[in-house]
Amino acid sequence: DGPLPWDMVRAVPAIRRSPVDFLTRTAARYGGAVAFPLPRTPVLLLTDPAAVRRVLVENARNYGRATLQYKALATVTGQGLLTSDGAPWRTHRRIVQPAFHHSALDGIAEQAVAAARRLRRTTDPGPRGTEVEVAEATARATLEVIGRTLAEADLRGVAEQLVDAVGRALELVVARAQSPVPGTWPTPSRRRLRAAVAEIDAVCARIVAVRRAATVAEDATDLVGLMLRAGSGDEEIRDELVTFVVAGHETVASCLTWTLDLLARHPAEQAALHAELADVLGAPGESREPTWDDLARLPRTRAVLDEALRLYPPAWVITRTSLAPDTVAGVDVPAGTLVIVCTWALHRDPELWPEPETFRPERFLGAPRREVGYVPFGAGPRLCIGRDLALVEAVLVLAALLRDRRVRPGTGPRPRVESLVTLRPAGGLRLRFETLPG
Ligand code: HEM
Repeated sequence: DGPLPWDMVRAVPAIRRSPVDFLTRTAARYGGAVAFPLPRTPVLLLTDPAAVRRVLVENARNYGRATLQYKALATVTGQGLLTSDGAPWRTHRRIVQPAFHHSALDGIAEQAVAAARRLRRTTDPGPRGTEVEVAEATARATLEVIGRTLAEADLRGVAEQLVDAVGRALELVVARAQSPVPGTWPTPSRRRLRAAVAEIDAVCARIVAVRRAATVAEDATDLVGLMLRAGSGDEEIRDELVTFVVAGHETVASCLTWTLDLLARHPAEQAALHAELADVLGAPGESREPTWDDLARLPRTRAVLDEALRLYPPAWVITRTSLAPDTVAGVDVPAGTLVIVCTWALHRDPELWPEPETFRPERFLGAPRREVGYVPFGAGPRLCIGRDLALVEAVLVLAALLRDRRVRPGTGPRPRVESLVTLRPAGGLRLRFETLPG
């Protein structure tokens, strides 16, 4: 008693309008493991926590990356950590791991506070308050931080060009995925994509050449430095550079954007956050910048981000292809099935999350971290390698930004949630910043 082929045909406009709403409604109607009767590729939509664990954790080896989503991404990233499987994936994951060790995150913390300093200038309320497009502002801030993880700081300008070209290429890939014209046809968008990828290649070649020309210190923790020391080839380094930009830039920006939006719409939650910031960093008028050492003392700030990642998980779907037959939540899964884990819908399961649409950071305060039914960073062997980095960055940027100011809804209607590579407010999001008294 799942959807019938005719249901799927009728669903096309709804899928186009809002994929996340369609997937959530489908899960609510048919249950946590829904098989779609599509010709050629069987599709399985999973929102049941045990089924999600089976695919991402317990039988992870049986589920690979050869999905439409990752194949489309690979036209830009090549064979990086996000898109590769098996031995090449394992080798690269081991090589780049030190970029996420404790000692490297310390440097990231400094970079995050420096980025927040510039973000504070963009959102400076002055005496009368100011309205800012925050999606763009947070994207600029996270760009500075990702630049640091890629290569040493003197390459910041080049990293910016890379992020820019990658952004353009991704937009073309998404537009092409939604277009009915076959991807192999020589259309103008195909030519534009080729040009964007050529630009990415050129920028990466420059980054690698500059880094190669300098001696790479033994304790280097930037991505290119680590890969050069491990003897990786230029092409491999290029693919991981682009992968890190794709995985680590827009995701954190999306997380910060929706967090600010939620705080603007929930003044009581924002007041509780301000109380914690004042406790740790001082009263608004005389507060100081946060540092790495403050992280453990900002549990509410962290809980606000955890809850924002529940309601607006930047990676709103996680996809896999089954390699061999399996049984998931009682459903037979033939080899070659496209498995879609919809984090957006999973995070709104009313049995796991009472009043799921309510923004309530307390859910994450004091309780042990949830292993089940909460996967904003994925799970199992392919858990996001940048999770700790992203959380250090987001906590520090949020604390540094809001320690002496509050955020409120801006003028104009609330934007629609656009689900492309990550979740974004369609057309941007305007919020108002005001100075906190005292
Ligand atoms: C993987 C989410 C930040 C690098 C993933 C996955 C998710 C995710 C859900 C798993 C995808 C799958 O299983 O198919 C997020 C979110 C972030 C974030 C929500 C921010 C809030 C970052 C950052 C970096 C990063 C800052 C790097 C600097 C990666 C990489 C992978 C990955 C390389 C692939 C890992 C592998 O398969 O071995 N991320 N991510 N991410 N993420 Fe993140």
